[in-house]
Amino acid sequence: MSKVIVVASGKGGTGKTTVCAGLAVALAKNNQKVLIMDCDSGMRGVDMVLGISDKLVYDISDIVSGGCEYSDAVYRVSPDLQLFCVAAPLYADDEVSPSLIKEFVAKARKDYDYILIDSPAGTGSGFVSAAASADRALVVINTEPISIRGCKNIKARLDELRITDQRLVINRFDKERFYQMALYEDLDAVIDEAGMRLIGLIPEDVRVIALSQRGALTGNWSKTGMIFDAMARRLQGADVPIIVK
Ligand SMILES: Nc1ncnc2c1ncn2[C@@H]1O[C@H](COP(=O)(O)OP(=O)(O)OP(=O)(O)O)[C@@H](O)[C@H]1O
Ligand SMILES: [Mg+2]
Repeated sequence: MSKVIVVASGKGGTGKTTVCAGLAVALAKNNQKVLIMDCDSGMRGVDMVLGISDKLVYDISDIVSGGCEYSDAVYRVSPDLQLFCVAAPLYADDEVSPSLIKEFVAKARKDYDYILIDSPAGTGSGFVSAAASADRALVVINTEPISIRGCKNIKARLDELRITDQRLVINRFDKERFYQMALYEDLDAVIDEAGMRLIGLIPEDVRVIALSQRGALTGNWSKTGMIFDAMARRLQGADVPIIVK
């Protein structure tokens, strides 16, 4: 049975799609069979960072409307990895309802070890659909007050939806800038303010932008790849320390 994880944030642009893809690749490299579901209708970013946009014909709305078979819209990302992707609809109007997402995930659960769901930003209907079947949520923030406010909004919504297994991911962390900005005393203050247990701390890394723009996030990206690997192992229950550099 799959573990179903929604990747969310209150504020846009914190790095949900990047974290979703980076984590999925790390889990797949750890011999897990992984499905990424892009639920960001109208934006659709996962296929771009994984470099499979040219292959796409169908998306999740085609499966749930009966426009194609389940297997037609599940794309294998790379021949070397057990990593698969379902795209979001190209148009926001084709957003899939929570009940149809539940139906799809119920079918997919038996086929994968992990299903990672990339949510649109915020707590609106797109997020509610993305979270509909989730057992766990990862909330991605940057170390800015607006981003942490967004985290609190998401947390309140997750509590309402009874998704109590919540973990925090701090992304784009730059130690020097963090202390220069002096908005928080230290990282503990950020974590306390967000009110969630930390599962990953990902540094600002220009290669992440370069590789995701080239659709090459499945490739080898050394240091940040190792951080995603550590996060994947934490997700799998290993006791791997989080190191602040
Ligand atoms: N650790 C990182 N280091 C440097 N750049 C990063 C990092 N993580 C993400 N980015 C860049 O930040 C930008 C936003 O990332 P991404 O698209 O993953 O965010 P998002 O939360 O999915 O955005 P949206 O809310 O629009 O869906 C992208 O240009 C991405 O390459
Ligand atoms: Mg995104």
